[in-house]
Amino acid sequence: MSQTPYKEVDVQGEKSSDVIWHNASVSASDRIKQNGHKPAVLWFTGLSGSGKSTVANAVDKMLHDLNCKTYVLDGDNVRHGLNGDLSFSDEDRIENIRRIGEVSKLFVDAGLIVSTAFISPFLKDREMVRTQLTKGQFIEVFIDTPIAVCEQRDPKGLYKKARAGEIKNFTGIDSSYDVPLTPEVHVKTAEKDIKACAEQVVEYLTANHYI
Ligand code: ADX
Repeated sequence: MSQTPYKEVDVQGEKSSDVIWHNASVSASDRIKQNGHKPAVLWFTGLSGSGKSTVANAVDKMLHDLNCKTYVLDGDNVRHGLNGDLSFSDEDRIENIRRIGEVSKLFVDAGLIVSTAFISPFLKDREMVRTQLTKGQFIEVFIDTPIAVCEQRDPKGLYKKARAGEIKNFTGIDSSYDVPLTPEVHVKTAEKDIKACAEQVVEYLTANHYI
């Protein structure tokens, strides 16, 4: 468990009563009109090696080619910067998702379709992010890949290390993953190629009039 003082701070408790929300001059509907699409978070969740980042990036490219304003927030990348102080303890994973939820909210406020690719193993935390957004702005995309397939792919050699006991708290091995119960999009990567997986997500956005 990380011992940084930052996480000891009660975020609500520390907030000064002199901090007052400033209303923006450009409204959400102004942004929708200019962008030509609605903003949303595509919240990719799944095991390590399931293909979250790969499918999220393929979706991002398709949306970009359709002239949508987009961005990808990726677990491994964000853990190099903003969340570089966090470990893989349950407590730190919760904080990881809380911060990403806040960042995603800002991206949605900016009018973008933001794809987040984090294991986000706990159902409670994913639901917390959902409740912080307006109805319809949180789209859970379950990248459903059997652990045996993830372990066989093992793109970063991490399963091998976890099995050897060199990495502790590894999701699916000695740390839990709560399967999404009612994801908006359920993608089975072992059954089709990346392009078809990405198309499934884009089709959801089209069918539900986001784009
Ligand atoms: S999360 O659980 O807090 O959502 P996140 O998506 O940010 O995880 O980071 C997961 C990535 O970190 C994995 O894809 C993997 O590359 C790497 N990683 C390193 N250690 C672990 C671990 N113990 N469990 C899971 N992933 C790990």
